[in-house]
Amino acid sequence: MNRTFLILSFLLLYISQSLQAEVLPAGNQPDSVYLFSYATSKNSNTNGLHFAWSINQEDWNAIGPEMRFLFCDYGRWGVEKRMITPFVFHTKDGMWHCVWSLNEHTGTFAHAESVDLIYWYPQTYPIVMQDNNCLEPEVLQRTDGKYTVTWLSTANGVKKAYGVTTPDFKNYSPVNETALSDRLNQRRKIQISGNIETGTVQKAAWQLVEGLLNKQKMNAYRDQQWSENAKSDSLRFASLKNLDATITIDNSKSKKISDLLVGVFFEDINYAADGGLYAELIQNRDFEYSLSDKEGRDKSWNSSKAWRLNGNGITFSVDSVSSIHPNNSHYAVLKIGTTGSGLINEGFNGIAIKAGEKYNFSVFAFNPDKKSKNLLVRLIGKNGENYGETKISVNSARWKKVETGLIATKTVTDAQLEIVPQSTGTIALDMISLFPENTFKGHKNGLRADLAQAIADIHPRFVRFPGGCVAHGDGLANIYRWKNTVGPLETRKPQKNLWGYHQTAGLGYFEYFQFCEDIGAVPLPVIAAAVPCQNSATGGAGQQGGIPICDMDTYIQDIFNLIEWANGDVKTKWGKMRAEAGHPKPFKLKYIGIGNEDLINDIFEERFTMIYKAIQEKHPEITVIGTVGPSFEGTDYTEGWKIAAKLNVPMVDEHYYQSPGWFIHNQDFYDKYDRSKPKVYLGEYASWGSTLYNALAEALYLTSLERNGDVVSMSSYAPLLAREGNTQWNPDLIYFNHTEVKPTVCYYTQQLFGQNAGDLHLTGNVKISENKDEIRKRVAISAVRDSKSNDLILKIVNILPVAVNTQIKLEGTGELYPTAVCTVLTGAPNDKKARPVTETIAVSKDFPYNLPAHSFSVIRIKTTNK
Ligand code: AHR
Repeated sequence: MNRTFLILSFLLLYISQSLQAEVLPAGNQPDSVYLFSYATSKNSNTNGLHFAWSINQEDWNAIGPEMRFLFCDYGRWGVEKRMITPFVFHTKDGMWHCVWSLNEHTGTFAHAESVDLIYWYPQTYPIVMQDNNCLEPEVLQRTDGKYTVTWLSTANGVKKAYGVTTPDFKNYSPVNETALSDRLNQRRKIQISGNIETGTVQKAAWQLVEGLLNKQKMNAYRDQQWSENAKSDSLRFASLKNLDATITIDNSKSKKISDLLVGVFFEDINYAADGGLYAELIQNRDFEYSLSDKEGRDKSWNSSKAWRLNGNGITFSVDSVSSIHPNNSHYAVLKIGTTGSGLINEGFNGIAIKAGEKYNFSVFAFNPDKKSKNLLVRLIGKNGENYGETKISVNSARWKKVETGLIATKTVTDAQLEIVPQSTGTIALDMISLFPENTFKGHKNGLRADLAQAIADIHPRFVRFPGGCVAHGDGLANIYRWKNTVGPLETRKPQKNLWGYHQTAGLGYFEYFQFCEDIGAVPLPVIAAAVPCQNSATGGAGQQGGIPICDMDTYIQDIFNLIEWANGDVKTKWGKMRAEAGHPKPFKLKYIGIGNEDLINDIFEERFTMIYKAIQEKHPEITVIGTVGPSFEGTDYTEGWKIAAKLNVPMVDEHYYQSPGWFIHNQDFYDKYDRSKPKVYLGEYASWGSTLYNALAEALYLTSLERNGDVVSMSSYAPLLAREGNTQWNPDLIYFNHTEVKPTVCYYTQQLFGQNAGDLHLTGNVKISENKDEIRKRVAISAVRDSKSNDLILKIVNILPVAVNTQIKLEGTGELYPTAVCTVLTGAPNDKKARPVTETIAVSKDFPYNLPAHSFSVIRIKTTNK
C-alpha cells in the first residue's frame, strides 16, 4: 500500500466522518479519547503491542484484551520475538511510531510506524550499541523536526543513558551519552484487566480507536470462522439431512489455466535429504558433523558422531592435517595395534538392508605408514551377526578412492557397517559410503527408490528445492550456495542445516535437476535474495544487513553461472562442468525463485531489485519468482506485493499454513486477485493436521486454485517429507522410516489433483437444496479439460457430514464415453488412514452421482471433444 495514499485516505475518512458528525450527529461519541499502548510480559514478552482506551484516564477499556496490533519480528522464532517496554508516540505528520527494546543484552532497539495503528510498515532494528544493551527506548520530537531517541544501557551494572538523533528512523547520528535526568520518563503504570501494565498514553481521535475496536471485532469473528473443524461441524450440522444438488458444467465456456498447477516443495527439513530421500546409508560419512550444527547443545554431535570402535587394540581419532579437500577437512585415522577390531557406523538409527540386494561400498583411504592393508567390510547385526561382507585393499600413501559391492544375506532394519583392518599400522579413511544398488532410476549417488517413487506418483509438474528456510539459511554464512553442492562428492561443502542438524550436500543441485528430469517435472531452484532467514540467530539476529553491497556483483554472477551450468552448451565453462558430471544435455531451467518469505524491508528490496534486474536483463528467458512473506496478510505480504508490482516481477511466492477452517472460508482468496499484476506461486501451504478433514479442506481449496488457474500458476504443499523420530515440523505430506513410506491422507489430495490436472477450466455451477452459506462453502467443484487426452475431469468435494445426491449436467460437450473412472477418497473426518478407491461408473450428459459425506471424488470422462 502506498503510504501517502494511506495517510490521505485516513485523513479523508476522518474529515468526512467529522463533517458527517456535524451534519448528522452519530449518537454521543467523543472527538478523542486517551489511548494506552503497552505490551504484557506474557509468553516471555512475545505477545506484542496492545491498546486500551479511556475517556477520563481512570477507567480503562482493553481492546481485545489479548489482541496484538504489532508483533515483533526480530531474531529467532519463538522466544526472541520480544517486545519489551514499547513507547508509542504520534508525530506532527500524522504518523504513529513505536520503539521498543528487544531483550536484555542486544545493543539494538526496534522501530515501526503506522498511519492507523493497524497496518504497520516494516520494522527496523538499528544497532546503536556495541557490547551493551538498549533498554526502555523513548523518543522526543524536536522543534527542528528531527527526533531524539534515548535509551538506558546497563553494562557492568552501571546504568547510563545514551541517545541518537534521526530525521526519519532510517539514518542515525553517532551515539552520545546523555544525562539520565534528560530522559522523558513518560511511561505510566495503569491497571488493565486487573494487571498493572507499563506503557505510554496519547490522545487519539475516536475514529482511530473505533478502527481498532472494529479490527478487533473483525478478527474475533474471523478467528471463530477459521476455528471451525470436524468437531464443531458435527454439532453445527447435527440435524442436517442428506441434500440434493445439481451440478452444471458448461464445456463451451472455458479459460486457459496453468499446466504447472501442482508441484512439490522439497526442503531438507525433518531429515528429508540425508537419512531420507538421499539414499546414502552411512551417517556422518565425511566426519564433518560439528558441535556448531546444534550450537553446542548436543556434545555427542561432533566429528565422530555415529561412529564407534568395536573391540580393543585399535584407536580411532578424527584428524584434519592431510584433508582430501579444504571443504572436507576431517577424516578418520585408525591406529591398529592388534587386528580383529573394527570401526562401526550405525547409519541413521540402523541400516535397512534386504536379503539378496547389492550394496555399493566406497571409501577414500591412504596409508600414512606407507604399508598396504586389507580391510574387511561387512554388514553386521547388533550381536555381531554377519549379514554380508567383502574385502578391499588400500595400497596408496595418498588419498585414493576404493570401491566394492556386497550382497546382503538378511533383511533387517538395524544393521551396522563395520570396517575391520586386517593388518596392524595406521590408516586414514574418509567419505565412507554405502548405497543400495537399487536407487531411483539406478543412479549412482542416487535417491531412495520408494520415497522418490512416492513423490513421482503425485505427478508433480515442478519440484522446488532446496527450501524453504534452508535456501536463505541461518545467518549470512549459512545461505545455501549452489556451487558448494556440485562436483565430486569429496569436494562439496557440507554445512549446518538451519533445522538443527547437518547437510552433506550429497543431494546437491545436480541430483535435484536429475530428479526433476527423471519424473518429468520442471526444476524450480530457490535462491536467497542475498539476505538470510529473518529468523536467523547465528552470526547475529535476523537479516543481519544482507550480503554487503560490494559483494553483490559476485553474488549475482553466481546466479548467472547457475543458469549457464543448467542450460549452457558443453563448451561453456559451467555447461562443461554439468557435462562432466554426466549430463551433457541442458537441464532446461526456466524458473528461479529469488528469496523465501523474507522480511520485506529496505535491505531486502535493494538486493532483490539488483538481482531481479540483472537476471531480467541478461536472461529474459528465465521467469523470476519473487517473494511476499510468510503469510496471506500483514506487512511482508503487502510490502512484498508492492515491490513485485512496481518491478513487474512475473510471479510471486506466497506462503501460508492455516487451520482447515481458514481454507474453507477463503475459497474466494484468488477470485479477487487483479489479473494484471504478477502471477502467484503458492509455494508453501498446508492445513494444520493430517486427517481426512484436512485433506478435504485442502481439496476444497485446490478446486479454487484450479478455478483461478489463470492467476495461480503453481502450488506446492509443504513440507514434503519427514523421517519419523527426526521431525521438526508437522504436518508433512509423507512420513517415512527406514523401510516404510507413509503418505498422509493429504498426500492423496495432492496426488488426485496432480494426476488429474487439466489446462482448461470449465465454468461450473452447484445448486444445493439448502442455500445457506455454511453449506455452500462445504461443497465445491472444479471441472477441467486436459487438451492432450480430451478428458473431462470433474473434481467434487463434500466436507459436510451428510451425503449429497447430485445430478450432473454436462453442457456443450462432444460425445462422451459411457463409462468413466471415478476415484473417491472418503471416511470419517478424523481418519488418518483413508485411501482413494477407484471404480468405473456410468456417465452421460445428465447423470446422477451420489457424493458421500466427507468425500472427494474425481470423475475422469473420456470425450471426443476437440
Ligand atoms: O515448510 C517449512 C518452513 O516453513 C519453510 O522452511 C519456511 O519457508 C516456512 O516458514
